[in-house]
Amino acid sequence: MAIKAGLIGCGSIGTVLAKFMDSDSRFELAYLLDDDITKCESLSSKLKNKPEVVIRTDDMKGADIIIEAASQQCVKERMIKAASMADVLIMSVGAFSDMNLFGELKEKAEKSGHRIYIPSGAVAGLDGIRAAAQAGLKSVTLTTRKHPRSLEGAPWVIKQDIPVHAIRKPEVIFNGSAKHAAEWFPQNVNVAITLSLAGIGAEQTKVKIIADPFVSKNVHEITAEGKFGTMTMRLENSPSPKNRKTSYLAALSAVATLKRIAETVQVGT
Ligand SMILES: NC(=O)c1ccc[n+]([C@@H]2O[C@H](COP(=O)([O-])OP(=O)(O)OC[C@H]3O[C@@H](n4cnc5c(N)ncnc54)[C@H](O)[C@@H]3O)[C@@H](O)[C@H]2O)c1
Repeated sequence: MAIKAGLIGCGSIGTVLAKFMDSDSRFELAYLLDDDITKCESLSSKLKNKPEVVIRTDDMKGADIIIEAASQQCVKERMIKAASMADVLIMSVGAFSDMNLFGELKEKAEKSGHRIYIPSGAVAGLDGIRAAAQAGLKSVTLTTRKHPRSLEGAPWVIKQDIPVHAIRKPEVIFNGSAKHAAEWFPQNVNVAITLSLAGIGAEQTKVKIIADPFVSKNVHEITAEGKFGTMTMRLENSPSPKNRKTSYLAALSAVATLKRIAETVQVGT
């Protein structure tokens, strides 16, 4: 039987996921929800099988999985309820910089026998981090390089009065924990928190942010050290065609997570 899904958020990631499920008979995309109902209607018009447009999570009756591709606010407002009804897949992982919220969601899912899926999003190598963590990790560091223009308006840049527009060579503008990075660089928060959840937590994971006028893509480098040895990963992420703030890889990782749920063979940890 097809996996019955509800999708919350019909933006750039939601559109990729809806089109994927519409084309794969192992899924039945039954429900669409978005604060902006015109987004649901516009997405529905592009699908062969028309999902029901609903306005409350409660309306997603009989869903096997409820997918969040909306916002951190949506995780707070809608996904605790969703986890009591179905398995959930969360894209706005930055919401979990509030560990109490993560604890609440986990407890709700455990009590009702559901799972929480967190795709690797805009990072890679979480399989290796998770495997390495089994023998203890000494350090995990995320170094993010962004064009100074993409850092304008970040709360940290405003607080420290950093003249990002005048940066002419790569400059480290932040060095701290993933927890602090999540507070001060909300645009970078999903990557930092996903890495923290896979490894050693948001207080131990280190984040360095470099304003680099020579990069055109968002570059993430992850290094980890532990009993296993050392590992380094580097990503140069292209933006999603519909939303420049979102890396295309993030939507693709959610498609891969859905396929993994439906498939018999599981490759990787
Ligand atoms: N995990 C990762 O690595 C990763 C990477 C990129 C983006 N993201 C996150 O995924 C989410 C979706 O990204 P996107 O590029 O598709 O965004 P988008 O702005 O293109 O689309 C979001 C949609 O969700 C709707 N929405 C927002 N809040 C809502 C709520 N409370 N209830 C119902 N609908 C709501 C909006 O109206 C919009 O249509 C964002 O929170 C983004 O930060 C995660």
